[in-house]
Amino acid sequence: VTALMRFDVTTEPRCPVVIGPGALGALAGFRAQHSASFFVSDATVALQHGGRIGLDALPHHLLPAGEAAKSLGRLEALLEALAAARLDRRSLVVAFGGGSIGDVAGLAAALYMRGIAVLQCPTTLLAMADSAIGGKTAVDLAAGKNLAGVFHPPIAVLADTDTLATLPAEQLVAGLGEVLKCALLAGEGELVFVEQHAQELRSGDGAALARAIEFCARLKAAIVARDPREAGERKRLNLGHTFAHAIEKVAGYGRIPHGVAVGCGLALLPDGALVERVRALLARLGLCASLRELEQRYAVALPAAALIEAMRSDKKGVRGSPRFVLPTGIGEVLADQGLRDAQLLEVLSAP
Ligand SMILES: NC(=O)c1ccc[n+]([C@@H]2O[C@H](COP(=O)([O-])OP(=O)(O)OC[C@H]3O[C@@H](n4cnc5c(N)ncnc54)[C@H](O)[C@@H]3O)[C@@H](O)[C@H]2O)c1
Ligand SMILES: [Zn+2]
Repeated sequence: VTALMRFDVTTEPRCPVVIGPGALGALAGFRAQHSASFFVSDATVALQHGGRIGLDALPHHLLPAGEAAKSLGRLEALLEALAAARLDRRSLVVAFGGGSIGDVAGLAAALYMRGIAVLQCPTTLLAMADSAIGGKTAVDLAAGKNLAGVFHPPIAVLADTDTLATLPAEQLVAGLGEVLKCALLAGEGELVFVEQHAQELRSGDGAALARAIEFCARLKAAIVARDPREAGERKRLNLGHTFAHAIEKVAGYGRIPHGVAVGCGLALLPDGALVERVRALLARLGLCASLRELEQRYAVALPAAALIEAMRSDKKGVRGSPRFVLPTGIGEVLADQGLRDAQLLEVLSAP
């Protein structure tokens, strides 16, 4: 039996994070501090896990599952639902789902009456390890993903690892891409943990997942507390992401799961020994260790020229010149790095 883990994101105000089986038990205490609570979820999560919180009997709004939730139209409908439920400034929005639900519910809470409280209750590995922490919210525009959003930190994060039992294998594996990213940022101990527990993690073992979520969430919490607005250090968390965003865009959004693209992005680095170790681990986690493997598994074409073009228009880049987070060792990275065209072409064209 795994015990609950608790720590705070030491921002002002502090944001408690609870991770482990039964973490949703803490929900009642947070609800009691608010005039009313309104739940946001999707039909899949509601069906599989709504019973854990008695969702049926609570005021709630269901968004479409996945990225389809993240549109201005869905945001508008959700805001109207908050108004129809007569929420006031002291009310609470509870996001109950994956990162997509968390992003839209967080943004709706930030906008409604100029900002009411949001509680993040993530139900995917990716959301527990990454997106529920740190206060970024967004919806997508036709021009690109996450282009309309604000920072709106949650009052708390309740990551109930019992909900992961129903997560489809593809979603689990995608989350492991972000877990590996965090391990590389955190250090040798975390990387060795992932290496030694690759099989358990991949097969959804609750105890192994809870530990991985904990080190990811702690790492993100520490970085976010020091740099809440991504002025500097928080950029480290974008390790692998310049490549990932380009891969997702060129493949066509939705074809390749974000975490899978991130995993591949971690292997596209010009450093010999570390890259070999990362590739071996990616394979054991069920992720793709090269662009050619991604092309095969998802039946897409990822030509170097198209990837480079996509990177030039990445919103995190200085216009025209893609920026990368590059590892200089395990647990050590440099953000805001450029790569020479020839180097980039070599990495992206490798067989
Ligand atoms: N705000 C941030 O800092 C941040 C960080 C990373 C990613 N994101 C965003 O998160 C989104 C991706 O989130 P995600 O990977 O969690 O996926 P998701 O929220 O899109 O959900 C994926 C699918 O999993 C299903 N699902 C969720 N929980 C389940 C469960 N317990 N059992 C069975 N099915 C379940 C959903 O219904 C959906 O079909 C992207 O839009 C991304 O931009 C945000
Ligand atoms: Zn990511």
